[in-house]
Amino acid sequence: MNGLVLENVCAGYGAVTVLHDVSLTVREGELVALLGMNGNGKSTLLNAILGFVRPSAGSIRLDWEGESTELSGREPHRVVDLGIGYVPEGRRLVPNLTVEENLRLAAAGRSRPDLKDNLAFCFETFPILAERRRQLASTMSGGQQQQLAIARALMTSPRIMVIDEPSVGLAPIVVDQMIQAIKTLQSEKNMTILMAEQSFFQAVEVASRAYVLAHGRVVHAIEHGLDADAIETIRKAMMGVD
Ligand SMILES: Nc1ncnc2c1ncn2[C@@H]1O[C@H](COP(=O)(O)OP(=O)(O)OP(=O)(O)O)[C@@H](O)[C@H]1O
Ligand SMILES: [Mg+2]
Repeated sequence: MNGLVLENVCAGYGAVTVLHDVSLTVREGELVALLGMNGNGKSTLLNAILGFVRPSAGSIRLDWEGESTELSGREPHRVVDLGIGYVPEGRRLVPNLTVEENLRLAAAGRSRPDLKDNLAFCFETFPILAERRRQLASTMSGGQQQQLAIARALMTSPRIMVIDEPSVGLAPIVVDQMIQAIKTLQSEKNMTILMAEQSFFQAVEVASRAYVLAHGRVVHAIEHGLDADAIETIRKAMMGVD
């Protein structure tokens, strides 16, 4: 099976353990939602996948086309090279560079044909970025900046995209558009995506499966489809009432 497999990952900051025995799987072609309220460990988990946070135990494996690669302990740029595209919380664009410069910067060090293909793919996926390619990133709206942040990850030819709270700071109508755009990436462009979100109603509408994190533990793993019962279970877990 092609995918990303986390087994019993423990990680934190200094003496503080934030993630406890987290196991989850993202299979090729899926859009998996990682749900949880503020401060429950979503970003820490994504940062552990990327190598910004070093796990103290467990394994983070990329299984792809018969090869199995341990990601844990590698530098973030190596993890990206191995096929993990990262869209950080808060977007982290370079504000005084243009849209196209932000995209080209993300592809620095890659081959020219890849760069050209990926740029074309970004512009096809997010036409507003093509229209505004010469506009400074800082002058784009929040929703447009989030599209640019996602496109920037696409410039690294990812096998799996890791997207941290794409809806944060966006107006409700833009949240829906953003989540739909991510769904389209998965359903029409065959991307595999792990998406952390607090907007769980919107996230479960589009996700193939979901995990709920509470206090750094997976309290619910919805392994087989998001039916009404599963959504109710998630809702209760998110509200802390079960
Ligand atoms: N750099 C850091 N140093 C120390 N503690 C941290 C650091 N970053 C996060 N934490 C702590 O780790 C815990 C989990 O935070 P994390 O950012 O992973 O949660 P989150 O689910 O992404 O929250 P949010 O929805 O607000 O983004 C929190 O208690 C937080 O205070
Ligand atoms: Mg976070």
